[in-house]
Amino acid sequence: MKDRIIELIDEVEKFEGATAEKAEQFRLKFLSRKGEISVLFDEFKNVTPDLKKEVGQLLNKLKVAAQEKLDSFKAATENISSSGSTADLTLPVSSFEGSRHPLQIIRREILSIFGRIGFTVADGPEIEDDWHNFSALNFPEEHPARDMQDTFFIDKEIALRTHTSSVQVRVLEKTQPPVRIVMPGRVYRNEAISARAHCFFHQVEGLYVDKNVSFADMKQTLLYFSREMFGEKTEIRLRPSYFPFTEPSAEMDISCTICHGKGCTVCKHSGWVEILGCGMVDPAVLKNCKIDPEVYSGFAFGMGIERITMLKYGVNDLRLFSENDVRFLGQFGSAL
Ligand code: PHE
Repeated sequence: MKDRIIELIDEVEKFEGATAEKAEQFRLKFLSRKGEISVLFDEFKNVTPDLKKEVGQLLNKLKVAAQEKLDSFKAATENISSSGSTADLTLPVSSFEGSRHPLQIIRREILSIFGRIGFTVADGPEIEDDWHNFSALNFPEEHPARDMQDTFFIDKEIALRTHTSSVQVRVLEKTQPPVRIVMPGRVYRNEAISARAHCFFHQVEGLYVDKNVSFADMKQTLLYFSREMFGEKTEIRLRPSYFPFTEPSAEMDISCTICHGKGCTVCKHSGWVEILGCGMVDPAVLKNCKIDPEVYSGFAFGMGIERITMLKYGVNDLRLFSENDVRFLGQFGSAL
């Protein structure tokens, strides 16, 4: 019996099992219920006590060797198709399986629309100091936006930026006009999360500073954007508003993309939906960035990417954008 076991150990070691069929042959011969090892274990009962220890150890060695061999065959044959050809895992995939996030699709579209009229892209940090997020933008010391209610402070001077307007300051401090940029990015506000508000969202800021930039230039730029984004029949309307860093300031509405002015729940039966804030850059902001407001003027605007995306695709809950549910994300195609 000893010799038989040693013979089998040798056989196990030499067995080549490059295909799934071979591996199965191996299993049947050695490890199945009626296989060699099982038969030997039955015979083991008859081994005389003086030989039990030695034969038992050999038998165990055979069993372990056979099992290890079979496991290695299985691992190796998993990537082998039934035709026997191995799949080359280093080949590039034939098609792109994922899809872009809807906010990415719209962000790229916004940047591309402004890119066509000469706006280049700039960005800045999400962790921002008081100067760039508030003071340079003409927020008075006691402005409510500085309150803990609205801003995530890291310490007294440092916070998560509450808007992308901070990037305006960063760029203007370093660049003399003409400046014509769009600045996309994530912003943070200390808000309770609901269908309409979130503690983080995304904005695209726009800024144009040069000699003789007028309110009419701003209006025309924003009309161009709205029609490229929402269709050529889109109308815009500006309502007076207030931002510390623009004067005069306005909020811009577009004619409702859902009901085209007839009245629906999205536009609350007014025919208009607000999409952005804008205005002429306040001379105090230019001065803070060492740009002479007697020589230069400019306009700025800021819009929420979520808002534009919701209008474009008819999404009614802001939370869907950050929940990563593939049933939602898969609906936007794989627009590259
Ligand atoms: N920063 C403003 C906001 O977050 C938007 C804005 C940008 C308004 C630029 C005017 C000019 O609401």
